[in-house]
Amino acid sequence: MITLALAKGRTVNGTIQLLQKAGYYFEDFHESSRKLVFYDSTEQIQLIFVKAVDVPTYVEKGAADLGIVGKDNILETAADVYEMLDLMEGKCQFVIAGKERQVLEKKRLVVASKYPHIAEAHFSKMGIQAEIIKLNGSVELAPLIGMADVIVDIVETGRTLKENGLIVLEELEEISTRLITNKASFATKTTKITAFIRQIQDALEDQDENFISK
Ligand code: PRP
Repeated sequence: MITLALAKGRTVNGTIQLLQKAGYYFEDFHESSRKLVFYDSTEQIQLIFVKAVDVPTYVEKGAADLGIVGKDNILETAADVYEMLDLMEGKCQFVIAGKERQVLEKKRLVVASKYPHIAEAHFSKMGIQAEIIKLNGSVELAPLIGMADVIVDIVETGRTLKENGLIVLEELEEISTRLITNKASFATKTTKITAFIRQIQDALEDQDENFISK
């Protein structure tokens, strides 16, 4: 059996549907369930349902052979894993956002983010001295209440920024959901892992063909 760590959050339903198309059906899975471990009907996959930011860690440490998680969390954790497939779901963008008049060419900026490593790396690359404040959510609040000058966050529809009167000051990187694998597992469970990846690839190609023919 291979263990797959799946990120909780917005992309869960899409991922479960993709797994189903690939032939892995998790009968008792429900997004609102408090259960953390599920098995597919063929008993090939043990699915563990964890916080998105922890998925790369589970995979790097070998607690899971495979993981499905956003590129944002892979970059933030800098986990030593293989990135195998772009699942083309959960598409969003990393941005720097703030109030309309906010300028980025400032000697020193206070930056709030759920992604402190990415924020730190970006501002240091830009040569801007930045104090990073790590928050765990509702980051958009920070510039509104004067706790930070800007935020580094992901934007999907842009609604959260808009409803809080913030704008994108700079676009950083495109994000989507990726399939990652533990390096040692890939060496020792090659057949099972490559078979799983192939099934997912076929399901993705079917999706594309259906989309094109519609
Ligand atoms: C994410 C992100 C933004 C929001 C962007 O937060 O951090 O706040 O979604 O999405 P939008 O562009 O579609 O509005 P999430 O919903 O995960 O909640 P959180 O703030 O509690 O982390």
